[in-house]
Amino acid sequence: MLTCAGAVLFAGVLVAAGCGGGGPNHPQVAALTTALQFKAILPAAQKSATPVGAAACKPCHAANCTTQALTAHSKASVDCEACHGPGSVHVAAKGGLTNILRGPASLDVKVCGQCHADIVGDFNVSVHAQIVTSEVPATGGSTTCLRCHADAFHTLEIEAPLAQNPPQTPAAIDTAIAALTTTQINADAVGTMHTISCAGCHDPHQNTANLDSAGEQMYLRAKTSSTDLTSDPAGATPAQYTTINHICGECHNNRGGDPSDAGLTKSTSRPATHEGPEYNMLNGNGGAEGITTTNGTIYATGTAAPGTRTSSHVNAPDQCVTCHMPTVNGTVRHTFTASTDVSCTPCHTSADAASRENALQSSVQNSLVALRNRMQNWALAQSWNTAKDPSVWDYSSNLASTSKFPTQTLVPIEIKRARHNYYFIVLDRSYGVHNYAYTQYLIAQSNTGLDALGVSREVGPVLSRQQTATLLSGDYAKVKASHAQQ
Ligand code: HEC
Ligand code: HEC
Ligand code: HEC
Ligand code: HEC
Ligand code: HEC
Ligand code: HEC
Ligand code: HEC
Ligand code: HEC
Repeated sequence: MLTCAGAVLFAGVLVAAGCGGGGPNHPQVAALTTALQFKAILPAAQKSATPVGAAACKPCHAANCTTQALTAHSKASVDCEACHGPGSVHVAAKGGLTNILRGPASLDVKVCGQCHADIVGDFNVSVHAQIVTSEVPATGGSTTCLRCHADAFHTLEIEAPLAQNPPQTPAAIDTAIAALTTTQINADAVGTMHTISCAGCHDPHQNTANLDSAGEQMYLRAKTSSTDLTSDPAGATPAQYTTINHICGECHNNRGGDPSDAGLTKSTSRPATHEGPEYNMLNGNGGAEGITTTNGTIYATGTAAPGTRTSSHVNAPDQCVTCHMPTVNGTVRHTFTASTDVSCTPCHTSADAASRENALQSSVQNSLVALRNRMQNWALAQSWNTAKDPSVWDYSSNLASTSKFPTQTLVPIEIKRARHNYYFIVLDRSYGVHNYAYTQYLIAQSNTGLDALGVSREVGPVLSRQQTATLLSGDYAKVKASHAQQ
């Protein structure tokens, strides 16, 4: 629902709009630019400017004008100056970068908030409205981390080039990122207000090919549904995994983590999976599946038995968006939280979803704690573990002291696979909801591997739900801390 006065005006106005028509000084544009919040973010040189109409931009910005004219935005008279502010000074100067609202400042939610105030209200309470400050320092940020953690970097250095006609290739985007100066990188970091914001997901200039499952044009920069994993193979580079054609998967992926035995043997300091591997989990990919024992291979890596790779939830029509962005009171909710009262009702009743979620999560969490206890049993049984430290099954960065742990080469592949799967499920955080089949399959495979190793099946005392949750979130926090040190 649109709430600003400007938009109410637009709704009734059907004058020819866009770069081809309309004259200067549209009353609705004037009404918008007096919106105080918006005016406050305009650069100093633009404060005194007046609207000139979109046709005045066309001689110099033909491409943006041609595509924008085809949007429902333009048909409702939402044109260049609605988002970039009044253009008289910029046009008189025949261009310039300091007399017109541009990125990163134009990424402010206040731009869209002129007319979509209720969505901005949702958004402001979401985790995306925050930034992980350790990964987005004012100076010296890593261009790898900024790709997903800083809105300005993500939108201006990845999404805008992808939106060009023809789109830039991932390789070309990567080359351009590598050539950025420290000053440019710092400008993106300092200009970043959020992890991702409106224009990071919605192209402000054109209709896109990525309709939602109802066939509606939402200007989405990527698809809402995909089962493609070819752009996210084990060992994928940032150029690959940050351009996955999926509106959430381009960030919520395992960052090319390699779950093969070779990969798990090579990288032993921290989990091969980054926080938020939900795209991989949903599509049934990224776990250590292979169980090679003295009796032979049970399932080789990449060959999970039919019916164990994906669950029904991969078929939710808009995947993540179906559950995390339900339509509530006629508006798409932008808090990005899934909740059983509204998220699951396309398919379950709320009560059914809530009881299934509760039962599944509690069972998965108990299985994870049992698996963790078995890894501890293995640790305690090792003769070299003279200190009888139960934590030496873990990655080296998660151990309080490396001195208590001679070397990761003492950890057999069965433990390496089991701990990879344990952390993959802990970092996904849906505890089975994203993909109950694959989650349960990986736990079962891990246990089969530990059986083959002869590890005791003794799983220790039964914990309360609260104790279980605390234990698992403690392990999530350890991974976070190990990244924040990078
Ligand atoms: C709905 C808001 C909105 C509208 C309407 C809009 N823009 Fe933009 N524009 C933005 C935002 C946000 C950015 C920065 C993100 C990006 O580059 O996509 C931007 C970036 C730009 C850029 C720099 C990057 C690029 O794409 O080349 C130019 C030039 C530009 N806009 C011109 C225009 C012109 C000309 C029009 C009218 C035809 C227009 N814009 C309409 C919001 C808008
Ligand atoms: C006479 C030519 C001309 C006209 C007319 C013109 N511009 Fe520009 N515009 C430029 C030039 C030149 C630049 C600077 C490009 C650069 O240095 O990269 C620019 C830059 C911009 C940018 C910033 C682009 C970026 O890279 O961030 C935006 C946004 C923009 N113009 C919007 C508009 C809008 C909106 C209008 C109409 C109100 C308009 N321009 C009219 C020539 C023009
Ligand atoms: C000046 C008011 C105004 C501004 C600023 C504005 N919008 Fe809109 N927006 C509208 C109106 C009006 C519609 C409904 C158009 C229609 O369907 O007729 C709309 C519709 C939409 C839609 C739904 C698709 C559709 O066409 O119905 C999306 C998505 C959207 N806007 C995103 C954005 C984003 C992102 C920004 C900021 C970059 C933004 N809007 C800025 C007025 C605005
Ligand atoms: C492919 C996108 C992507 C890249 C690249 C990326 N991250 Fe992340 N990161 C995420 C996502 C998504 C989350 C949130 C996951 C969740 O909440 O489930 C996250 C979460 C985190 C967290 C935990 C934040 C918190 O407090 O919730 C830390 C710490 C972190 N990342 C560090 C890094 C570092 C360091 C780098 C660079 C070496 C990096 N990330 C690169 C996507 C990425
Ligand atoms: C992480 C991606 C993402 C971000 C960030 C995001 N949106 Fe959306 N938005 C979507 C998706 C996906 C849809 C379409 C959902 C659907 O069709 O079911 C949508 C739908 C919309 C709609 C159509 C609403 C309706 O009820 O028809 C508007 C308007 C909109 N977004 C505006 C915004 C604004 C304004 C912001 C910033 C405050 C924003 N979006 C931030 C992904 C995003
Ligand atoms: C530009 C990268 C990016 C995109 C695209 C993106 N996210 Fe995120 N998301 C992140 C990062 C990074 C975090 C963690 C931010 C923090 O901790 O401050 C996060 C956090 C979240 C959280 C909150 C996790 C928590 O800690 O509670 C949810 C839920 C979420 N994202 C869902 C989505 C959905 C659904 C989509 C697609 C519609 C999406 N995200 C698109 C980067 C992204
Ligand atoms: C079938 C519905 C469904 C689908 C599809 C789905 N999720 Fe979730 N997601 C959930 C539920 C339910 C939770 C757990 C919420 C809880 O325990 O409170 C969750 C948890 C999360 C979390 C952890 C933070 C939080 O909010 O609890 C993130 C991040 C997340 N999902 C992102 C995604 C992404 C990205 C996708 C698509 C790749 C996706 N989800 C697909 C339902 C879904
Ligand atoms: C697109 C339709 C769809 C949506 C949306 C959806 N589900 Fe499901 N879900 C299914 C189907 C189909 C099954 C398999 C039914 C069966 O096995 O009886 C299922 C199974 C489940 C299961 C595992 C089966 C079990 O009982 O062990 C859980 C848990 C579950 N759903 C929870 C949720 C939650 C929570 C949400 C919302 C956050 C949700 N679902 C959203 C279609 C959906």
